Amino acid sequence: MIEDLWTAEPPAPLPAADGLFSVSADAAHLNHGSFGAVPVPVQRVQERLRTEHELDPDDFFADLPARVGAARRRIAADLATDPDRLALVSNVTEAAAIALDTIPFAPGDRILVTDHGYGAVTQAVARRAAETGAELVVAAVPLDAPDDQAVREAVLAAVDERVTVAVLDQITSPTARLVAGPALLADLRERGVTTVVDGAHAPGMLPDPVDPNADFWFGNLHKWAFAPRATGVLSVGPQWTDRVRPLALSWEHDKGFPGNVEWRGTCDYTPWLAAPAGFDLLRELGAEAVAAHNAGLARYGQRVLAERAGLAPLPATPGVWMRSLRLPAGWVEAEQDVRPLKDEVRRRLGTRIAIRPWDGGGVLRISAQLYNRPQEYERLADGLAALLKG
Ligand SMILES: Cc1ncc(COP(=O)(O)O)c(C=O)c1O
Repeated sequence: MIEDLWTAEPPAPLPAADGLFSVSADAAHLNHGSFGAVPVPVQRVQERLRTEHELDPDDFFADLPARVGAARRRIAADLATDPDRLALVSNVTEAAAIALDTIPFAPGDRILVTDHGYGAVTQAVARRAAETGAELVVAAVPLDAPDDQAVREAVLAAVDERVTVAVLDQITSPTARLVAGPALLADLRERGVTTVVDGAHAPGMLPDPVDPNADFWFGNLHKWAFAPRATGVLSVGPQWTDRVRPLALSWEHDKGFPGNVEWRGTCDYTPWLAAPAGFDLLRELGAEAVAAHNAGLARYGQRVLAERAGLAPLPATPGVWMRSLRLPAGWVEAEQDVRPLKDEVRRRLGTRIAIRPWDGGGVLRISAQLYNRPQEYERLADGLAALLKG
């Protein structure tokens, strides 16, 4: 899948994206995938909502459940999914906790994750397994698995008759690979496995982000769908909606799903109300043009890092707006090596990137968003070539 990497050319910037973000110019932000960046027009929509909130807090709260419901229905339409199965949540971390709290586990059950899974979610699965007497099974997916089929086979190799639940990333965080694709999910369903899909990166990036057949699917709108931070979505299969166990019981509890999940007492609901403005913006810019730009730029960035800094590119899933490469041997052998290298890349090369330790070595991940330019990846590649030489 990376054979054609050497032909990757930098895409032209989208003129309409000029001035759209407020990320500072004193660093190249090549790490959109970690925390997102909210476009200025969406920041303004949320600011107006906050102002309205402060003018008459009572009035604002009186109307909130109805406004949250309207935002949810808009978001469901933008995600092309069923509004009755969708709840708004703060983020994927919260959605994963709800799913794990809802699914019954019995001693001896096996819960499947992969070694590419997001650390906090895997830890939540491990805790739930320890509490219920279930067993955590980690499928090893080789870093150099050449394509989706190889990933699928690696996951299925770890499935036996005791695996009852699989918690899998749609797009993995450290390695930017597709894992929980439709084919693998169908295989797991056929084996009677309950499927939980971490789609943190899917909304905004993938044309059909929500897999309607997953038992639980959740994603973030604050990564790639231009929404304010603390905007996540949880989609549950119809067989689960009546059983969903909210993390906190509050006033909407008796009304059932999704209000019982969404209403968490007095807190800031403006990110959800402003989220549809993110989808509006994506549509105005042209979702296909944004996707072509970001996927093309990530691919070009991977090419220059491989060519100029000598990093080994990892196989990539086409259409993903992040790419990963292996750092040379001896770099980032453990968690404590991450921060010093990230800080040095920021200080000496003026660039923000993501780095993870992996099997005694390191993996570097770049992201691409509309505010990024090819020169930022070229500068990083040239600077890294010197920095990694020591
Ligand atoms: C695959 C994956 N899952 C979960 C998360 C956690 O997202 P949040 O912190 O918004 O809950 C991330 C964040 O980077 C992620 O990449």
